[in-house]
Amino acid sequence: MTSSQDISAEAKQVLITNDRGGYTVPTAGLYPYQWNWDSAVAALGFAQFDVDRAWVEIETLFQGQWDDGMVPHILFHKSDPGYFPGPDVWGCEGPIPSSGIIQPPIAATMARLIWAQDEEAGRARIETLYPKMLKWHSWIMRWRLHRGAVCTTHPWETGRDNAPDWDNTMQRMDASDVGEYTRRDTQHVDSADRPTKFDYDRYIKLVQIGRRLKWDQAAMLAESPFRVADPTMTFTTLRAARDLRAVGQSLGADTATLEADIKRLEAGAATLWNPALGSYDSRDVLSGEWAGCVSNASYLCWFAGVENKDMLARLRAVMERVTYPVPSNDPEADTFDARRYWRGPTWAIVNMLIGMGLADMGHEDEAKTLAKKTGDLIEEHGFAEYFDPFTGSAAGGGTFTWTAAVWLAWAGGN
Ligand code: DGY
Repeated sequence: MTSSQDISAEAKQVLITNDRGGYTVPTAGLYPYQWNWDSAVAALGFAQFDVDRAWVEIETLFQGQWDDGMVPHILFHKSDPGYFPGPDVWGCEGPIPSSGIIQPPIAATMARLIWAQDEEAGRARIETLYPKMLKWHSWIMRWRLHRGAVCTTHPWETGRDNAPDWDNTMQRMDASDVGEYTRRDTQHVDSADRPTKFDYDRYIKLVQIGRRLKWDQAAMLAESPFRVADPTMTFTTLRAARDLRAVGQSLGADTATLEADIKRLEAGAATLWNPALGSYDSRDVLSGEWAGCVSNASYLCWFAGVENKDMLARLRAVMERVTYPVPSNDPEADTFDARRYWRGPTWAIVNMLIGMGLADMGHEDEAKTLAKKTGDLIEEHGFAEYFDPFTGSAAGGGTFTWTAAVWLAWAGGN
C-alpha cells in the first residue's frame, strides 16, 4: 500500500521532471511548452516545497506578456516539432514566441495564495507582478466582455477544448478551406481520448483567422465567427478581480477600478444563468443561443464568490451519481462521453478550483468530500491528465503537472 507521503514524493518528482528551467511543461511529448493556466497551478504545487521556484513560474509566464497586456495561452520557449500548431502557425510577435489567445486568468489567484505562504519575502515578488497582472485583467475587461460576462474567442481559451458548449457554434463554422495539416496530439495519446477531426479543423481555422487579422482584438470582434460567453472565463476573471483587489489593498494601491470591475462581472455572471436548464451555461453572443450544457465550469460559481442554491443541489446530486466527481459534462446528456477529454471526464484541476470556492463560501462538507474523492482518484489511478468519472481509469497524458500540483496543494492532505 502506498502512503500519502510516498504519493507526495512522487508528485514532487512529477513537477521536478516537468521543470524545463523557469517554467514547467504540462507533460512531456503531448504538451512540450509553457501553458498559461497549467503554469499557474504548477506554481501553487511548487509553493508546497520550493516557494522561490513557485514565484519564478509565474514570473516566467509574465515575461511573455504582450505590450497591450495580453498574456498568451502558450509560450513556445524552445521549438519542439512534436507539437502542432507551433509558433510558425500562430505568427505572433510578442516578446516570446507564443499563441495569440489567452487562457482562464487564474495566475492572480495562485499568486495571492503563494504570497499568503511567503508573506515577508514574497512582498517584493508580488509588488512586481501586481501591475502586470492588473494589465492583463484590464485587457480582458476591455476586449472580452458581453453584458459583463467574459467571452472566449477560441475553445482552447477556456481550456475546455471540445466541451459540448461549443458544438452549435462549431457546427455553423465553415472549415472546408482549412487545408492539410498533421495532428501531433494523437501520436502521443489514444485518439478516443482526444477531440475529433471535425473539432480540430475548426480549432485550426480559428487560428488562421486570428493570424490573418494579426490578432487584433477589434478586428476579431468584428470578424471572428466564434465568440461565446462562458462560465470558465467569467468565473475565473471575477475571482481574479477579487484577488487583485485584495492584493492591491494590501499593497496600498487604489482599487476603485477593480471594485467597478467586480460589479460588472457579477452582473455578467448572472447573465450566464440559463433558467430552462437550471444551471450556469455558455451563451453564443453572435447567435444569442444557449449551449444547454451543465459542465464542471458551471460549478465554478463559488470560486467566483457567487452563491447559488440550485447549483449546490446539483453538485450534491452529481457527487452521488458518479464515483469520481465532478464530470466535465452532465452524465445524463446525449453528448456525454466518459473518456473524451472535456465531454465527460473528471479533471482534478477544476475540482480544486470548485473545492476552493466551496470552502471559501462556507460549504465545508462538500469541499472536504470533493477533496477526498479527488485524492482517492489520484491515489488509485495516478497523475493522469483526466479520468473516467465512473471507473476512475486514467485518460489523456500521464505524469501530468497540474494533477501532481493539485495533490500537493489540495487533494493530498485529506
Ligand atoms: C491542445 O493542443 O490540445 C491544447 O489544448 C491547446 O491549448
